[in-house]
Amino acid sequence: ESFFEQDLPLAGKKALVTAGPTYEAIDPVRFIGNHSSGKMGFAIAEELKNLGAHVTLISGPTHLAASKGIDVIKVTSADDMLNACTDKFNESAIVVMSAAVADYTPKTIATQKIKKAEQEFSIELKKTVDILATLGQKKSSKQTLVGFALETNNELENAKAKLLKKNLDFIVLNSLQDQGAGFATDTNKVTILSKGGDTNYFELKNKQEVAKDICSLVVEHQKSV
Ligand code: CTP
Ligand code: CA
Repeated sequence: ESFFEQDLPLAGKKALVTAGPTYEAIDPVRFIGNHSSGKMGFAIAEELKNLGAHVTLISGPTHLAASKGIDVIKVTSADDMLNACTDKFNESAIVVMSAAVADYTPKTIATQKIKKAEQEFSIELKKTVDILATLGQKKSSKQTLVGFALETNNELENAKAKLLKKNLDFIVLNSLQDQGAGFATDTNKVTILSKGGDTNYFELKNKQEVAKDICSLVVEHQKSV
């Protein structure tokens, strides 16, 4: 690593990273969420910072703290995250979307706490906006856009379809079938597919090391744009 900050490979570049879950409100006291810890996204933000980038981290609710020098924007819902990402997208050379964004949100948020019913109860849901796909549509050739894919079956095929459909440069495939990989753990086993057609298989390792693997591909890509 270089002593001089200006010699770092991502010096002078802005990076945007999303992390954590989103919470979709049902009523004033309840929400729909998921088990994302945010660890993967925070590790990527740290690594991009170490490589010299100016990092903005847009995070859903987590228990994590980012280190000094990372700009953190805290959000709650998928809609909040979309707005924050849209604001920062154009100025960002690098965008890594590791948040576990809810695919659905309640159609309406009850203004009062919902009382329990006699028997069944259901909530009507509507789809959220796909943030990554929205950014992919606006992407310029100078930007590096990285998405994640969580799959349990037809993993490579599904991940490749997401890469193409969302106009990404890389997709990080995360398999829940692998022991020690996934949501609330400290380790991850990933396969990274690139737009150019490369498939990189990685060993099970801690999320800091996975972040390094992802970010070195990002550095290479930025050199080529
Ligand atoms: N994503 C997003 N906005 C959403 C949903 C997902 O930006 N509303 C992003 C995630 O951050 C991730 C990528 O899309 O980088 C893939 O998420 P994933 O849940 O694996 O795929 P989906 O496209 O949501 O499809 P599905 O859940 O049906 O597999
Ligand atoms: Ca999803």
